[in-house]
Amino acid sequence: MHTDFVSFSWIKMYSKSVISTLVIVLIALFSSYQSVAQEAPAAGGDAAKGKELFSTLCQQCHAVTDEKVIGPGLKGVTKRRDTAWLIKWVKNPQAVISSGDPYATALYAKFQPVVMQSFPDLSDDDIKNILAHVDASAAPAAAPTSGTASGGQTAGTAASESPSGLFTAVLIGLLVVMLLVLGVLLVLVTILSKAVGPTPAGAADQSVPFFQRLKSNLSAAASNSTLRSIVLWLFVFVVTKQTFDGLYSVGVSQGYAPKQPIAFSHKLHAGQYQINCNYCHTAVYKGKSATIPSANICMNCHGEIKRESPEIQKIYKAIEEDRPVEWVRVHNLPDFAYFNHAQHTNVGQVQCQTCHGEIEKMEVVEQRSSLTMGWCIDCHRKTEVATKDNAYYDKLVALHKKGSKEPLRVANIGGLECSKCHY
Ligand code: HEC
Ligand code: HEC
Ligand code: HEC
Ligand code: HEC
Ligand code: HEC
Ligand code: HEC
Repeated sequence: MHTDFVSFSWIKMYSKSVISTLVIVLIALFSSYQSVAQEAPAAGGDAAKGKELFSTLCQQCHAVTDEKVIGPGLKGVTKRRDTAWLIKWVKNPQAVISSGDPYATALYAKFQPVVMQSFPDLSDDDIKNILAHVDASAAPAAAPTSGTASGGQTAGTAASESPSGLFTAVLIGLLVVMLLVLGVLLVLVTILSKAVGPTPAGAADQSVPFFQRLKSNLSAAASNSTLRSIVLWLFVFVVTKQTFDGLYSVGVSQGYAPKQPIAFSHKLHAGQYQINCNYCHTAVYKGKSATIPSANICMNCHGEIKRESPEIQKIYKAIEEDRPVEWVRVHNLPDFAYFNHAQHTNVGQVQCQTCHGEIEKMEVVEQRSSLTMGWCIDCHRKTEVATKDNAYYDKLVALHKKGSKEPLRVANIGGLECSKCHY
């Protein structure tokens, strides 16, 4: 009787696809291990790790080519100086200069008045990694190892690594899901095949090979409508959930970090040079909008500083053509929601970083908070009103104290009222 059911071969096919996915995952894992293993010895440091460090810590002042940025181009620096010197230098340049080291003093004289900052927190390995990156990207045709140029190879793996890494991750995820589904199917099959009734005599017999028993169990179950509808419902459930999750995140642009028309860096201006936020965002303590600075504000400094830089030339061009710089807006609430900066930064004394993250460390501004209604409300429920030294609140605080032991929170002064945020 059960041979009729063998034609339900879908479970068999399913198991096959699980196995082939497993094989692909193994191959992908193996090849990525290989590329990592090949990359490491290429320059005595991990260039991929170095690249990240370089772009966050060094890039605003150094290029990997000969080109001078604020500091000298770093191409060939590992030939000019040995590793021990370079490590000492990066950790504390001033110490090397004041030790009287002739090379350092000459460098210092050449680049005055700018002095490189120290990086005492970088480990020797971090610095070796950065140097490996500098070597790898500055000398694409150097040091042939087994036929491939080490520089080209490293750059190639760095570029291809993330997509293939993602691919592997997706595959592994898929595999896990497939295995889980298979497991659930097997459990159901075992239960149901007992319930379904007379199984073929051989099926329960221990002497029949396991796979044959499995096959007949599976095929019997496949014909069972209860099982099929359970699987169908599971499928519908998963798809629906995915769709809803997707819909809920529409319009939420957390993590949005568009490329700007001028490579303006908050890390450099607000971080390193510690220019106050409101020097540029002039209305942030007194108005609804923080405002984006006009080109004239940039000219206060860039009339003198870095005039020849192509990025600064873009500011001149905008002024010449009498048009504003077209910055891409990062944070944007829908029109029906009202948000006021002064209320939060000045009256509420909330720090910029609470809502915007550590802007002073960002090369490119990124939206860190979700900016959803839930986010606003959540903070209003938790945050105490800054009532100290604010006579406006004295009466309110006294009134609130009579009715409650809890401190006065934003929620208590109307921070949850629809009309305060919607008009
Ligand atoms: C604020 C800008 C600035 C940053 C950031 C910076 N440097 Fe420098 N760097 C300089 C300047 C300027 C010099 C030239 C010497 C001087 O005046 O201090 C220099 C010199 C050097 C030299 C010597 C170059 C040569 O030709 O001998 C090396 C190596 C170096 N920096 C590495 C790094 C590394 C690695 C980082 C990141 C961890 C880094 N620098 C970050 C400004 C910077
Ligand atoms: C030297 C001028 C300057 C200083 C100082 C400065 N900013 Fe900016 N800021 C800009 C410019 C120009 C933009 C638009 C380009 C961009 O997004 O990078 C901007 C954009 C932003 C944005 C994103 C605006 C949007 O489109 O949503 C935020 C948030 C921000 N700044 C916060 C800060 C904070 C917080 C500080 C202080 C820690 C600060 N800024 C200091 C010039 C400055
Ligand atoms: C208070 C002074 C000040 C203001 C205002 C200012 N900057 Fe700067 N900016 C600097 C300094 C200092 C540097 C670093 C230059 C150096 O180290 O040689 C710099 C560097 C830059 C660079 C990097 C240039 C390069 O090629 O390395 C860009 C781009 C830049 N600023 C854009 C702007 C823009 C756009 C504005 C206006 C929104 C602005 N800056 C306002 C002081 C200022
Ligand atoms: C309570 C949260 C919060 C705080 C604190 C805050 N911001 Fe914002 N910021 C926002 C929101 C929300 C927006 C989007 C406003 C919109 O689209 O109408 C925004 C937008 C901006 C923008 C884009 C231009 C604009 O006004 O729409 C800049 C620039 C900015 N903030 C700078 C700052 C600076 C500088 C500080 C600190 C002095 C600060 N913000 C403090 C929430 C905050
Ligand atoms: C990090 C905490 C925080 C976040 C996030 C926040 N707020 Fe507030 N909000 C405050 C504080 C604190 C006050 C009280 C200011 C005061 O004393 O008037 C306030 C007050 C207000 C008020 C005035 C309430 C009243 O009754 O006077 C409005 C309107 C408001 N916020 C809107 C928003 C909107 C819209 C958002 C989201 C886009 C938001 N807030 C996000 C902290 C926050
Ligand atoms: C503290 C400020 C604040 C208060 C109070 C507030 N909202 Fe909102 N609301 C927002 C913000 C900000 C958005 C935009 C959220 C977004 O773009 O994801 C929003 C969005 C909405 C939306 C659009 C759907 C959505 O979630 O995006 C509706 C509807 C809404 N609010 C209704 C209300 C009602 C009804 C109340 C009163 C019970 C209320 N809101 C109170 C800030 C507030």
